[in-house]
Amino acid sequence: PATSSIPAGDVAGEDQLVVQVQGSRWIWIMTYPEQGVVSFTELVLPVGREVRFEVTATDVLHAFWVPAFRMKIDAVPGLKTFVYATPDRIGTFKDDPGYRLQCAELCGLGHSDMRAIVRVVAPEEFEAWVAENKPSASLTR
Ligand code: CUA
Repeated sequence: PATSSIPAGDVAGEDQLVVQVQGSRWIWIMTYPEQGVVSFTELVLPVGREVRFEVTATDVLHAFWVPAFRMKIDAVPGLKTFVYATPDRIGTFKDDPGYRLQCAELCGLGHSDMRAIVRVVAPEEFEAWVAENKPSASLTR
């Protein structure tokens, strides 16, 4: 996939999917502000749409790394870093271990466990996942 990294402060484009990623010993917190969804276990992305990752950390230095996207950027406390990727192929960790979000900066005891599954899905499947994971949906279940 096409990836790029540009200086902080740039504004998200209209077509971009924004995912805020927070590293915190020893989990990843993934927030989709437009969709109102927060995930701790998996990073779900629709195929073919550019994603703007806004990356930070709550405590110590971590690094946001998705091997399948050949993408890595520091997660720095008190700072937001940005990286962009357009997943161009449907895939999941089950079939390709590169589909994972892995911390790539030694951050203590739980460092190697600090990972989440990545799933690139069809746009409809992404919408279904969002609907399922909206807090309002789980309250009325
Ligand atoms: Cu976080 Cu290593």
